Amino acid sequence: MTAAHRPSLADATRGRILFGGDYNPEQWPEETWHEDVRLMRDAGVNSVTLGVFSWSRLEPEPGAREFGWLDTLMDLMHANGVGVVLATPTSAPPPWLGRLHPDTLPRDENGDVEWWGGRQHFSHSSATYRRYAAAITEDLAARYGGHPALTMWHINNEYCTADHGDEAAVAFRRWLRARYGTLDALNTAWGTDFWSQRHDSWESVLPARRTHYLKNPAQVLDFRRFTSDMLLECYLAERDIVARHTPHLPVTTNFMPLFFGQDTWRWAEEEDVVSVDLYPDPRDPQGARHGALVQDLTRSQARGPWMLMEQAAGPVNWRGVNHPKPPGLNRLWSLQAVARGADAVCYFQWRQSRQGAEKFHSGMVGHAGERGRAFQEVKRLGAELAAIGPEVSGSRIRADIVILHDWHAWWAGSQDGRPSTHVDHAAVLHAWHRALCEAHLTADFAHPEHDLGGYRLVVVPQLYAMTDAAIDNLLAHVRGGGALVTGFLTGVADQDDRVRPGGMDARLRELFGIRTLHEWWPLEPGEDVVTDGFRGTLWSEELEAEPDAVEAVYRGGELDGLPAVLRKDRAWYVSTLPEPEALRALLARIAADAGARPVLEGLPPEVEAVRRGELLFLLHHGREPVTVALPGTRHDLLTGKPCTDEITLGRYGVAVLRP
Ligand code: GLA
Repeated sequence: MTAAHRPSLADATRGRILFGGDYNPEQWPEETWHEDVRLMRDAGVNSVTLGVFSWSRLEPEPGAREFGWLDTLMDLMHANGVGVVLATPTSAPPPWLGRLHPDTLPRDENGDVEWWGGRQHFSHSSATYRRYAAAITEDLAARYGGHPALTMWHINNEYCTADHGDEAAVAFRRWLRARYGTLDALNTAWGTDFWSQRHDSWESVLPARRTHYLKNPAQVLDFRRFTSDMLLECYLAERDIVARHTPHLPVTTNFMPLFFGQDTWRWAEEEDVVSVDLYPDPRDPQGARHGALVQDLTRSQARGPWMLMEQAAGPVNWRGVNHPKPPGLNRLWSLQAVARGADAVCYFQWRQSRQGAEKFHSGMVGHAGERGRAFQEVKRLGAELAAIGPEVSGSRIRADIVILHDWHAWWAGSQDGRPSTHVDHAAVLHAWHRALCEAHLTADFAHPEHDLGGYRLVVVPQLYAMTDAAIDNLLAHVRGGGALVTGFLTGVADQDDRVRPGGMDARLRELFGIRTLHEWWPLEPGEDVVTDGFRGTLWSEELEAEPDAVEAVYRGGELDGLPAVLRKDRAWYVSTLPEPEALRALLARIAADAGARPVLEGLPPEVEAVRRGELLFLLHHGREPVTVALPGTRHDLLTGKPCTDEITLGRYGVAVLRP
């Protein structure tokens, strides 16, 4: 089946917003299942994910199959109008698999085994693991492919493991041979002449195992690429099985939010539905911004509507202190996901566990049961999503601005032995995305080699390593009349983490008007630098620039009078991390010059505005009521009432306005 004919999220939503969550009924007696469906109906749940961790129940001993309980549940869901996203159970193998086949267990960088007793104790490279995973997947697909409750496949769960063991070493060599062809080419790419690391045989090439001192960075980089690719192979093997049985049904696997270990641009190409799990800390003042970033990234990967596979109705249990969601926050953050393109709002998990590692993690039905606040809020949300679903589902978001992000650049830039360990790529990305959000500017994300046509402004918070193709792409964007703004530590290295001559790619230096990059001056935590008009943190640079390109200079300190911000025509270079307000003002100015407009002008700072299709979402992240001026009359889909010239939003209030 060609990509054009693959099914999509729309095949599962059918004009609605999916609402529900992970359902792990194995934990409960059958009478609870009947109470579950009663409450699901009550809450407007129309989708559950079954079977994520069911392997030991489905295959209690090697080769055995116990499907009866799942048959009952599939039928029960169907009888109650709840669609099933059926998971392959392969992220938590039964204990017998590790006991009988120790080769299926992964090893960490020290060579220690990761045992059963938790979850995700599988080696991506293990042929035995893959054989058992394929067999249970095949049988699940054969048995339930024709079941009327089935709406979508969910492969594995949060792929995230690495393996440094011997079978992984063999697979790594195979992967490297495919990438480099010859050992000479590998030695060249890895720069093995430094520290006597030249390999004379493929047998001496190892996973990134523990070493005495700093590891070879190119080896570590390739090991990260390999790990992401091996996990992807596991996903593809299962995806191909289910797709063969049900070519009409979409397939997904759930990403973790901005997860370091997986090149999710590459993965998203292989999914019919892009889904993500999202758990901002309710106490984090930047929690909603973190959510917005992940939502924008996921929407961009999906190239349209996406699925919020998991969130928490209340507290999680894996932080040091696990805060509940205050009244209204679950609704606000759920509707924020819808505003930013989600057509599915789901949770981990339906009913809070009483046993096991996650018994203090909230559920849609908490320990307090149906009278508990968590369930009451879930129920209200279910009704609202049902009401707005037909007008929202399938609609798109248009952005004039695009932020570039690349996992390979992140991996390469996060190695040991770099100028400053305080430069956290994810934090830099968040800072730039936050600045755009606070300026009410909507942005997509893209991979640096993606087609950038159609965007007025390309924003590069940081791309430490770039391929030639990515650099050409940026140059073509600017040559074609687009604007570009770039943060520090960009274009430094090539795809092998080899520093480009001059410390930054010559074409980029020319683009920004940089003549010589003398030194980087990373800053200590808490230290700042003063420039014309703002303070910078984290980083500064000793640059020599074309005089006409200097937009702002450093004031005081060792860099006094040297350029801090450069601008040559439509290309900007920012050599420090401006403080939040300054970055917001700078990006707002550059966006305005580029012709990218905010969603609304003059909004209170705690109100987020997003346009999705014809609808305007207003999301109030504060606790005190605010009034937003909105000339004209609009219809609020949530209240069913018109509003004229202004709207008042209460604590965590939301409006979904139709013109
Ligand atoms: C992840 C997993 C779930 C659960 C939640 C808890 O998202 O996929 O199984 O462990 O975290 O927050």
